[in-house]
This record gives sequence, structure tokens and C-alpha cells, in this order.
Amino acid sequence: MIGALSETRLVGVADPITNTHLSMRRAWQPLCRSGEVSTSPRSFRLLAQQWVVWRGSDGDIKVFRDRCPHRLAPLSLGTCEGDGVRCGYHGWRFDGEGICLEIPALGDDGVIPSRARLRAPASIAERHGMVFIAIENPLTGPPSLNAANNPTFQVGELPVVTSRASAALLADNFLDVAHFPFVHAATFGADEGRVVPQFDVVRDGFGFSATYEHDFANREDPGVATGERPLIQRRRLTYRYNVPFHLELEIEFLDAGGSNVIGFFLAPEDDETVRIYSTLWRNDLGGSEERMAEAVAFEMEVIAEDLRIQSRYERLEMPLDLTSELHTRADKTTLQFRRILAEFVEKAEAEAGRAGEI
Ligand code: FES
Ligand SMILES: [Fe+2]
Repeated sequence: MIGALSETRLVGVADPITNTHLSMRRAWQPLCRSGEVSTSPRSFRLLAQQWVVWRGSDGDIKVFRDRCPHRLAPLSLGTCEGDGVRCGYHGWRFDGEGICLEIPALGDDGVIPSRARLRAPASIAERHGMVFIAIENPLTGPPSLNAANNPTFQVGELPVVTSRASAALLADNFLDVAHFPFVHAATFGADEGRVVPQFDVVRDGFGFSATYEHDFANREDPGVATGERPLIQRRRLTYRYNVPFHLELEIEFLDAGGSNVIGFFLAPEDDETVRIYSTLWRNDLGGSEERMAEAVAFEMEVIAEDLRIQSRYERLEMPLDLTSELHTRADKTTLQFRRILAEFVEKAEAEAGRAGEI
């Protein structure tokens, strides 16, 4: 059995997860938002490499290494032509598949070398307003959020945050509820209990969902003032995780109705830096753009509170050797997160071993 959990250690996996751990090349990673892609090439950094992105005249997203095969200049400094791109240095022109069609310096009868082609990631997917890529053959399907597929939800995209951080530790932090009263005392933490309730954690491939219901004071509910509903109401929190760092939190208001979804996607730029993409999907704001703008500003404050600690870790990595940290029964979901990540790494390394790569 791959990645079985022994008493103190995840079998076969001892190396901590750094942002550019080799296994991350076999996972889906967020590259940018759909709204950041246009018919001008643009460069984004992921796993210590630059990637150029544009939208072709066929409407499809094109992604390649941001490096011309001629003199390795950044293609993002060139221009789009049709589905393709023309390098800004010596004008080589590539089509939407990355094949070179023209080398101006050779004239009309020039022979184009067969190696004159761009390097693409193994897979590209556009969903939930994001562009995801897997650099090498992905071991899972692209991330899919339940609530984000519902067109009745209002969408609020947070500005992209770039920070010194570990993507694994940020994902761990998103799944962790015990820090709310301490880190988020100035935002929502004061209303949360200190004692962590027992979650039901349901495993699903290289992911899981964790759910619990609890009573809370619903001060935003207009039905409380009219006496229609009591102040103390019930809500259900569902965390959904998919490898490596795709996260969703759904809050359902069981008495007042409506729900509120936070999507959280982490793009490791290199070993020191992460881009944080977060999107809100809500059906409890009555279509108000003003209320959505307030919700986005509130979530930005929450992220800043988390980064105050997350950006200051001495080592930007998450151990998979369980003896390096202390775990309690309040850490059930974050322990499951480590277990899944360890199994994923083990599978990626086993396949690489079979292919003679290590
Ligand atoms: S470097 Fe791109 S055409 Fe020469
Ligand atoms: Fe937090």
C-alpha cells in the first residue's frame, strides 16, 4: 500500500515539501486568473520557471515556457499574431501549437529547423476563472469546486497577493481552525470557540472533505431583528481539499438560508515566494456589488493576518516526517492533508523511479 501511515512517520517519505519539490511538476498548479490573459503575451512564474500566456484568436489559452528556442529571449516581450506569437528579438513566428512558421533572417525559402518549437506544459485547464497547468503528466484531474459551478452565485475575485511563504504551510493554515481566536481576533476570530469540534473527514482520492455543524450568532440576518428567527442559528462548514494546494470552504446558513464559498489556490513561484489567488462565491448578498466589495476587503484583511505569521517562518517547507511536529486530536484535518500529500509524493517518485528518472 502506498503511503500507509506508520506510528510516527509517513512511510517512504522523509523530505519536507518545499515550494519547488519535484513532485509538484506532476500536480495541477494555478498559473494566473483568466482575466489576466489577453491577446498580449504575459509572463508568470511557477515552480522556478517563467511561463508565457496569451489567448489565441481561436479563444483558447496558450501556455509555453517563456523562452524562445533561438537565443532564449522571453517571448512575453513579443507580440501575438493570430493564434500564435512573434518573438520580439529576431522576429521568429510560432503558431498556437508552438511550431515555428517563419524565420525572417532566412528569407522566404529558408528551411526551418525541426527543433524550432516552443515547450508546452503537459496539460492546461481553464475553470473557475483561473488558468491551471500541470508541467508534467498530472497524476490527478484538474481542481473542481462544487459551489463555483453554480451560476446563481455572485463572484468576487480578491487582488492577487504575492508573499514570502511556503505553499504547503499556507494550505495547512487554510485548513486549520484552532488559530482563529488568536490570529484573527481582529476580524472574525472572536466569535469562534477555542475548542476545535470533531470533524467528519471523508477521503476522496488525493483529496478530502471535512464537515461540521455548529451554533453561531447570526448578526447579519435581518430575520433576527424582525423576530422571524432566533439570534443563535446553525451553520455547516465544509472544507474541501485537493492535492497539492487547492482549497475550498463552504459555509451554509442552515436557518437563514444562503451560502458563502471561499476558493483558495496557491501558486508556488519558487522556494521563497507564493502567489495567492482567492475567489468568493456568494448567494447571500442579494446581488449587491457594494456588499461584495466589502466582503473582498474583509478577506484581504484575513489573509494579511495569516501572512503576518506565515511569511516569517525560518524554513519555508512542511515536514512529512511526522516526528518533526507535534499533533493533537484537534489537528485531524491537517494531519490528513500531510498524509495525502505524502502519498502523492510517493506515487510521483515511484513513477519517476520506474521511468528511470531517479
Ligand atoms: S531569440 Fe527569439 S527570435 Fe531570436
Ligand atoms: Fe487564518
